Order: sequence, then C-alpha cells, then structure tokens
Amino acid sequence: MADENPAVRRLSDWEPEPLRDIADEYGTPLYVQDVGRVRENAVRLREAFPDADIAYAVKANTTHAVLSALERAGIAAECASAGEVQRSLDAGFPPERIRYTAVNPPDVDLDHVCALDGVDELTITVGARDTLDRVAERGFDGPLCVRVNPGVGAGHHAKVSTGAEPKFGVPYDRAADLCRKAADRGFDLVGVHAHAGSGISGEDLSAHRELVARMGELTREIADLDPEFVAVGGGFGVPYRESEEPLDLTRVAAATREAIGETDARLAIEPGRYFVADAGVLLTTVNTVKPTPETTVVGIDAGMTTLLRPAMYDAYHAVRSLEPDLPRKDPVSCELSGPVCETADVLGRDRTLPDPTRGDLLAIGNAGAYGYEMASTYNSRPRPAVVSLDGTLVSLSVERERLSNLTALERSAGDSDGSAV
Ligand code: LLP
Repeated sequence: MADENPAVRRLSDWEPEPLRDIADEYGTPLYVQDVGRVRENAVRLREAFPDADIAYAVKANTTHAVLSALERAGIAAECASAGEVQRSLDAGFPPERIRYTAVNPPDVDLDHVCALDGVDELTITVGARDTLDRVAERGFDGPLCVRVNPGVGAGHHAKVSTGAEPKFGVPYDRAADLCRKAADRGFDLVGVHAHAGSGISGEDLSAHRELVARMGELTREIADLDPEFVAVGGGFGVPYRESEEPLDLTRVAAATREAIGETDARLAIEPGRYFVADAGVLLTTVNTVKPTPETTVVGIDAGMTTLLRPAMYDAYHAVRSLEPDLPRKDPVSCELSGPVCETADVLGRDRTLPDPTRGDLLAIGNAGAYGYEMASTYNSRPRPAVVSLDGTLVSLSVERERLSNLTALERSAGDSDGSAV
C-alpha cells in the first residue's frame, strides 16, 4: 500500500488534470496550495517530536487557510511582526499560543502588540536589552523569552544563516545575565530562544546540534529561574531537487534530545518551510518561445516578482509541464525567463521541457513556502492569486491583484492635502 503520508511530496506527485482545471478557472500565474498536505506535515512533525512545543513560523506562508488549519491542529504560531501576530489572532490562535519574536521592532509594531487584548498571555521574545526596555515602557508584563545569538549558523544560503549574525539575539555569553536582569525587573521569564538558519540539510546538522547543545548549557545555567522552554528554532530543509532525499526527522529529533542534555525545560521548535513548502505549486503559462544560439528562452508569466527565491538565493525549484501527451514531445533544453526587466529574472536555467510551446501550462514545485509571501509589485506587476485545495474543495484564498490596486495608495501632487516645508 502506498504511504499515505510520505516524507516528501514531489512535483511529479501532483496530478496534472486538476491543476489544469484550476488554471483554466483562476488564470496564471497562480499559487495552488494543498491544505491537507500542510496538515500531514504537521502530523509528521508531531510524530517525530512528540513531547515538544511545536510552533509554525508564520512568515513562510501567512494565508488564512494555512494559519487556521495549523491552529486547529494545535500548533502554536511564531511571528516576526505585528502584522503576523494580527493575522495569527485573526486565524483563531489564542494569545497563549502566539510567540512574537521581535527583531529590531519598529515602534508601531510594539505599540500594536502591547495594546492587544490578551497581550498578557502572548510571549514576546526580545533579542536586545533595548527591546526589553521598550516592551517594559509599554507596560508589557506577560511571558518573556530571551533570544540568544548562539554564534553558530546554518542554512541553504549565506543570506538565510542567522545564528552567527550580530543582528539576531544577545551574544551567548551575555544571555544568562540578561535573563537574570529581566527576572529581577519582575518579568515572567519563560524561555530562551535561538535559530540557526533556514533550509538546514544533512550537512548542516552538526551546526544545528552545536546550537542545541549550547542552548541546553544555557538552560542549565539559568535553571534557578525555572525556564519553561528552550526554543531551538526552525530551519528544517526540504528537498527541492527530485534527487535530494528528505531529512530523517526522527533522527534529527533524537540528535536534538541528545544534544540538549538534562533539563526540565520543554523543547520548543518552530519550523516554517517544513509545514508548507511541498504543499504548494506555482502555475505559470508560456507566452514566448525563442530559440537562441545559447539556449531556448521560454518566457513565462511568472518571474522574480512572483517567486523571488531563484533571484535572491539562486534557489532551485523543479519545473514540469502539465501538458497532455508528453511522451510524444521532444525534450528541449531551455531557460525559464520571467517578464521583469532584470537579468536576475530567471526561474530556472538548463531545464529540459517537452517541446515548449506558447500556451503551455507549467508547474513550479515547492512553492508553498516563501513564495507568495515574498511576491512584490516591482515593474508594476500585480501579485498573483492563491487558491487552496482541501480534499475535494477548491477555494480562492487570495484574490489576484489588479492594475488598479497598484495605484490605489498613490496621491498626485495636485490633490494632496500636504503642507509646505
Ligand atoms: N524561526 C525564526 C526565528 C526564523 O527567523 C525563521 C526563518 C524560522 C523560524 C523558520 O525557518 P524555516 O523553518 O522556514 O526554515 N526567505 C528565505 C527563508 C528566510 C527564513 C527567515 N527566518 C527562503 O526563501 O529560503
């Protein structure tokens, strides 16, 4: 019997017919996300880490459909901004299941969060003495967590390795002191937190173990403060290439337990990508096929404004044609170019597609994490729509932006109510 909840859902596992129907109905470029798969990923995390406090790093995909599914699955929410906190509340997360990890938070974020109903139940994680002072100034006296810079980073690209970046957390050797000062000031110090980076693969596991060991050490150092949890971040990678193997979560969990050592504090993790990456695909239509001496340029209606990851991190996303009768078509080596006037606007190089033709529908894999979230309107290109699947139910989660939305906030000099400077 086929595994009903396999460790990874590959792009080749998606059925083409329903995706073609959805593209016909909603147009392209279009994100399609399978909420059932998000739930399955939550189950696998829960099975691997049965005793841990598991939060979802909301930044990976903030659609209401995903947030409310994870809320109902009993997962907590790890938020990076007031906007993410608000979305989590709107999706039904109770404040006690929300952790706000405030990274150099603007005043407006702290003002908003500290004035929320139920803020006393919500955990705020501070990574600087200044942030501690600023939440105190706003009267916050709810659960507080201290973010630590563990001095060890990991991840799929230098731009997503956070663990050793001075921006994140208080230096490891000052962390215990800040925890004590916070407790002395009357804060309810509930935990310590660190995050190594994003997209941790088998090769980075030793760096992650090192982080976990340091956090275990710190927890013992402040055992007299009785911290409830020790959060070791998220970052579990997923395979983006068909040839890559998924992480063995059970092994990761066992290594984490061993590295953390003896502590009464509960282990807390906060993956983002792992919940949602393989639950999403991006559908796009071929609009131009241009043979050149170097390659065949296949122009598509999705680009760096739709899916930023290839331009920003040289990230690889699998691509597949959803056209019928593929075996009879000749394979062509090509480059998938978006419509944005930037050299970086290429979603895939040296890809092979079966006889790419204008009008073909393509699917781009692992688009559920950091896909729609990082979309922009650069080049005055409206953002795509998002459709959610849940069993046999298909629903529009985010409407397609229109050209008229792009100028909705703009004021021309003549009609402003501005004053002279
Ligand atoms: N916790 C903290 C404090 C984080 O900063 C992040 C991600 C996570 C958890 C979740 O990491 P994950 O499990 O999703 O790897 N845009 C990049 C990823 C940036 C991640 C930033 N922080 C990408 O598309 O690869």
